[in-house]
Amino acid sequence: MRLNAAASCDVAEIPARGAEFHSPRGAVPPLLKWTGSKRSQAAQIAALAPAYNRYFEPFLGGGALLYLLGRPGSVGGDSYAPLMDFWTMVRDDPESLIEDYRRQWKSLQADFPDYFYLVRDRFNREQRPQDLNFLMRTCVNGIARFSRKGKFNNSFHLSRRGMQPRRFAEIVRDWSCCVANIEFMCGDFSVTVAGSRAGDFVYMDPPYAGNKQRYIGNLEIDRFFTALEELNRRDVKWALSFDGARGSTVYEHAVPPDLYLRKKSIPSGHSAVAKVLNGPVEMVTESLYLNY
Ligand SMILES: C[S@@+](CC[C@H](N)C(=O)[O-])C[C@H]1O[C@@H](n2cnc3c(N)ncnc32)[C@H](O)[C@@H]1O
Repeated sequence: MRLNAAASCDVAEIPARGAEFHSPRGAVPPLLKWTGSKRSQAAQIAALAPAYNRYFEPFLGGGALLYLLGRPGSVGGDSYAPLMDFWTMVRDDPESLIEDYRRQWKSLQADFPDYFYLVRDRFNREQRPQDLNFLMRTCVNGIARFSRKGKFNNSFHLSRRGMQPRRFAEIVRDWSCCVANIEFMCGDFSVTVAGSRAGDFVYMDPPYAGNKQRYIGNLEIDRFFTALEELNRRDVKWALSFDGARGSTVYEHAVPPDLYLRKKSIPSGHSAVAKVLNGPVEMVTESLYLNY
């Protein structure tokens, strides 16, 4: 049920995207902190988008590109259920999310920092999307870190008292308009892109590909490449953020050259993952593979 779907959103303002497309939306507002977020590179990636009918983002995470490229009829998906529950709430019930955050923020100021750990325990029992949002806003460097048993185990970021509720409310309402007519799916990337057809555009940002293992998280590389081949066969345009360079080390997951036409280098600042692991802070460049 759509409780509060974008009452004051003017989706007609969003023009059709074309090869010359530059998003009418400015910087991506920080809705959900998410590991590997493309917020800082989103404008550079969006500027390379082709003309397209529908937009698909099957590794949605914090959805930075969705903000710039999504339009009515777009599809966003992710395999992490609490995350997709969060997105559904932003779209369908933003005022409840805003109110919940306001209450949680007040509780944190009153019971600092113990309230964080109370929420963390509750999230590990109940998986409430509001709690995921709260934890991501206040945990060390905004990194979603889980134990082997799948329990969220990152700690409180002592200097982080959480974004002011009024600012959070503005951001949620803005995003809620943006995703008002977007379909969300919880599941494997292959399910999210299953309905894409010739003329559609898919942006993919799978989990960090900094090693040469066959699996990245739960993503099996060969199966992923087969899916890209299938998109090519259907004449679906896609862009893929995949490997890159960190400092002097280059991480190269060989995307088979016959699958794509161009490869661009996108500077992406410093590595937050290295920071949370107390590693050296290094400049990271990511590759963007395009099949058009
Ligand atoms: C690097 S993050 C995406 C970040 C996103 N571009 C942003 O701006 O925040 C990768 C996402 O892929 C999801 N994921 C991992 N394996 C998946 C799979 N097999 N199918 C769909 N999503 C998957 C993870 O839950 C994670 O949210």
